[in-house]
Amino acid sequence: SAVPEIREPAEASIQEIARMVQACRHCPLWENATCAVAGEGPADARLMIVGEQPGDREDLEGRPFVGPAGQLLDRAMKEAGLDRNGAYITNAVKHFKWVPRGKIRLHQKPSAGEIDACKPWVLAELAKISPDALILLGGTAARSLLGAGVQITKMRGIVDAPHLAKRVILTVHPSYLLRLPDEMRKEAEFRAFVKDLSLVL
Ligand code: URA
Repeated sequence: SAVPEIREPAEASIQEIARMVQACRHCPLWENATCAVAGEGPADARLMIVGEQPGDREDLEGRPFVGPAGQLLDRAMKEAGLDRNGAYITNAVKHFKWVPRGKIRLHQKPSAGEIDACKPWVLAELAKISPDALILLGGTAARSLLGAGVQITKMRGIVDAPHLAKRVILTVHPSYLLRLPDEMRKEAEFRAFVKDLSLVL
């Protein structure tokens, strides 16, 4: 097959960006991943959502937010009155980072260097989609697009970042909700998450 033409990410279409992401060797994470997972959604989406990195299921399917965290995100978006299919959904880091733990592939947090290495891709996606609203899910997305030292608990909600989008919302990552052991706390945090998502409207 033809060798993909190397172009600046800023000039590329969303499909070309996805192809370049697939061939990315900016950091070593590709070596242990099944594939890269680029963003998914319409090129004219008015809402873009940025997560952390693909998980086990996403790595196998090559699509973002299709595992347990994705199902929770779907449910929260519905409750907030948002249409997932109308949104462009992507991750700050495009390859799954993991270590073997018995039979499972245990998720590992991407390093600052890995987040920075992947930043050109999320910036290219953002430039192409140019959404009105941007939702950042969790610390990795915040680190990538807002910089170091952002604390979700202190800054969650609408953040002032007009260089990214007209409306930028920072909230928790759905995986955080999945990990909460207490059911009442989980329900309260889910409601707070839905409330944050509904700030796009
Ligand atoms: N968690 C993420 O941050 N992104 C995914 O795509 C799946 C789980």
